[in-house]
Amino acid sequence: MDNFISLLEQENLSINQIVRILSCSTDEDIEALRFQAEKVTFKTVSPAVYFRGLIELSNICSLDCYYCGIRRSNRNIRRYTLSRDEVLQAAMECIEMGYGSIVLQSGERTDDAFVDYIVDLICAIKTLSRSERLPEGLAITLSIGEQSEKDLKRFFKAGAHRYLLRIETSDPDLFARIHPVDQSFEKRLSCLRSLREIGFMVGTGVMIGLPGQTLEMLARDILFFRDEKVDMIGMGPYIVQPDTPLANTHVFTKEYLFRLSLNMIAVTRLICPAVNIASTTALETLHPEGRLMGIAHGANVVMPCHTPLSKSCDYNLYKGKSRLNRDNGDSWKKFLGSVKSLGRIPSFHAWGDSLHFMKRAGKRTCPVHSE
Ligand code: 5AD
Repeated sequence: MDNFISLLEQENLSINQIVRILSCSTDEDIEALRFQAEKVTFKTVSPAVYFRGLIELSNICSLDCYYCGIRRSNRNIRRYTLSRDEVLQAAMECIEMGYGSIVLQSGERTDDAFVDYIVDLICAIKTLSRSERLPEGLAITLSIGEQSEKDLKRFFKAGAHRYLLRIETSDPDLFARIHPVDQSFEKRLSCLRSLREIGFMVGTGVMIGLPGQTLEMLARDILFFRDEKVDMIGMGPYIVQPDTPLANTHVFTKEYLFRLSLNMIAVTRLICPAVNIASTTALETLHPEGRLMGIAHGANVVMPCHTPLSKSCDYNLYKGKSRLNRDNGDSWKKFLGSVKSLGRIPSFHAWGDSLHFMKRAGKRTCPVHSE
């Protein structure tokens, strides 16, 4: 136990040491890891928890990833694209909730009509959301896949300043096994690097528990986040989607996968102390208090879904996707109460930019106004 605690406090952990921490399984070791991650969170990024309203713009996708329910070849899905009004309505809802930022997410499309749609939405949301409390409007994060450098620059100029693009796994062979041949690890990596060069606050992440993924690969994923200097991290358990080619290859139990996902969050906080880490929806699919437990293990961002209810059920990346009961005021209040009982501060009307980004870019952020 003492050895384990001193391991947690060590800098420059080796792959083997990270694997040892990730696989901890006694109650004592698990709590020691959680406690250390919490300590680093408080000391580095503060007790604040930020909210990003997630708006799933469209489930039309030109890619065919073997794990994803909105893949191009899935015929068992109703495709949709939100109208401009629907998106602005959802953004208004996020403003009313007091969030400082939103995430616009969709399947990947690179055609001109789609790019113009995104640029128009960014401009409209910026105009709509400027107020005394948020003089620069909502912070906008895009999560719309690999785009050309030219189009990324257009999005940035229009006012989006954050971008999420998951690497899915930092292991090129595993990446090749879960994607068709026309998708390349190198291209994904080069897109991530362009995002940083353009000036975006950059987020990436991986799925945890993919078929064929080892603890060593996950340990390398965390070092990848550090070495690629990413500012935001969103990871979640891989959850089988029955309408995909990987449907029958699942190996881990729910309990193991949940524990491993929490351990990944905690170790990521230790190794990348200044980044923003999301407690993702997929965690809640495995456990009713999943997102809260993610926060207790070092996450500091939550992304409540604000896609219109009539469409959200068609954004089925995986099976059993949960919503953070935003339509039920009582359970939202209960969630905020639980966040506070962890000693954390739900933070409203604040962008909550990543400290890692501010340090490297010398940028400022909006001040925090808690409830
Ligand atoms: N299980 C968990 N996460 C998934 N994603 C896609 N399919 C699944 C799945 N079956 C994640 C990917 C993608 C993000 C938008 O959703 O990591 O980048």
